[in-house]
Amino acid sequence: MTQDQLKQAVAQAAVDFILPRLDDKSIIGVGTGSTANCFIDALALHKGAFDGAVASSEATAARLKGHGIPVYELNTVSDLEFYVDGADESDENLNLIKGGGAALTREKIVAAVAKTFICIADASKLVPVLGTFPLPVEVIPMARSHVARELVKLGGDPAYREGVVTDNGNIIIDVFNLQITNPVELERQINAIVGVVTNGLFAARPADMLLLGTPEGVKTLSK
Ligand code: 5RP
Repeated sequence: MTQDQLKQAVAQAAVDFILPRLDDKSIIGVGTGSTANCFIDALALHKGAFDGAVASSEATAARLKGHGIPVYELNTVSDLEFYVDGADESDENLNLIKGGGAALTREKIVAAVAKTFICIADASKLVPVLGTFPLPVEVIPMARSHVARELVKLGGDPAYREGVVTDNGNIIIDVFNLQITNPVELERQINAIVGVVTNGLFAARPADMLLLGTPEGVKTLSK
């Protein structure tokens, strides 16, 4: 199976899981990236089964609207049963690295509101220790050098992601060469640096369920 087929399989598995749990008032949180796009396309076939969605990025909002799915502002929504999104890495405890698509802050906000965070990923994303994928950090532009120096003190090698501006008007610093053995603590430490908006560790609020696409079928890992 190709990586694309694995992504489509996990996207379909997520739709199959949430569909019987939705009603015509349900609003679904939707992530960003190529796997989340597969989910949007699969979800669009069941538009009548739910009310609409909250998007974690402008790109996702555009794709949802393109399918005719109503997109709500998060501030107008009190209940979000599910948030479905991809990841750049997951460990076996469902701690994640996200932000390869620079949408980490909005993704983290929508995940915080959702009752159940379902992560969908192909098998290449499951790792024993997080950190091979460089950790994205969203930063207020004027704090770039300060934050980079502080990240070096935490043992990382920061690199400015050239040419990328987030949906919030900020920049991304990718942190290379981290061995993330305590993701909750590192998430807290990086978020405490002045000028950091948030970082791509989802450990304080990990996924609740990981649907992992493997050549043998979709495997489910739960907290
Ligand atoms: C975007 C993300 C994505 O979920 C992550 O980059 C995975 O993307 P893909 O499904 O394309 O591999 O965090 O900010």
